[in-house]
Amino acid sequence: MSSSIKLAVLASGSGSNFQAILDAIAQKRLSASVELLICNNPQAFVIERARRAGVSVAVVDHREFSDKTAFDAAIAAWLHRSEADLVVLAGFMRLLGPAVIARYPQRIVNIHPSLLPEFPGLKSIARALEAGVSETGVTVHFVDQGVDTGPIIAQAKVTIGPGETLESLEAKVHAAEHRLYPEVLQCFAEDRIRLQGRRVEILPRLGTTG
Ligand code: GRF
Repeated sequence: MSSSIKLAVLASGSGSNFQAILDAIAQKRLSASVELLICNNPQAFVIERARRAGVSVAVVDHREFSDKTAFDAAIAAWLHRSEADLVVLAGFMRLLGPAVIARYPQRIVNIHPSLLPEFPGLKSIARALEAGVSETGVTVHFVDQGVDTGPIIAQAKVTIGPGETLESLEAKVHAAEHRLYPEVLQCFAEDRIRLQGRRVEILPRLGTTG
């Protein structure tokens, strides 16, 4: 029996990863509750997904703040109010500042559409395709103050086939994200993730042999 964890999700766009998390919870593959969605883009479709699912939404539009410190303070206040155990970035297109990161040591995770440290930053799927590599993938990692530089928790590979197009590769990468993220979050729910320095260990499930 694992306990349930409280999540706060930060997103800026379509929210397909947010949806995958909600679906995993509904299907009991993930013992969690989404306490709050924080979105910096008032037009983002992820807001509609949250409303349909009855998840509380905080729109924190970065353009309405005088500077990044004020924006970070607003995010920190919402996170505090949510009482979340884990902060989940799912396509959140702003960098979190030190004030937020310091409050959640080992408690902020992100998903990135490449096999980090390859192709950090923007347009990672297109850059992998253009580079002509035979595989790419997805990475779930802890968030530090860099861009996609935090300790890696888990990765899944995606093959780039001959004749692969950007659309077909995006579909494969997103499908891999939607599988991997809920699985990793479930490891947090089961308290099986340990971080020592930059090394992440995922402990075996209780009762698992071999
Ligand atoms: C995903 O590819 C994620 O890895 C990246 O941003 C994208 C968000 O997509 N960080 P969605 O909004 O979850 O559909």
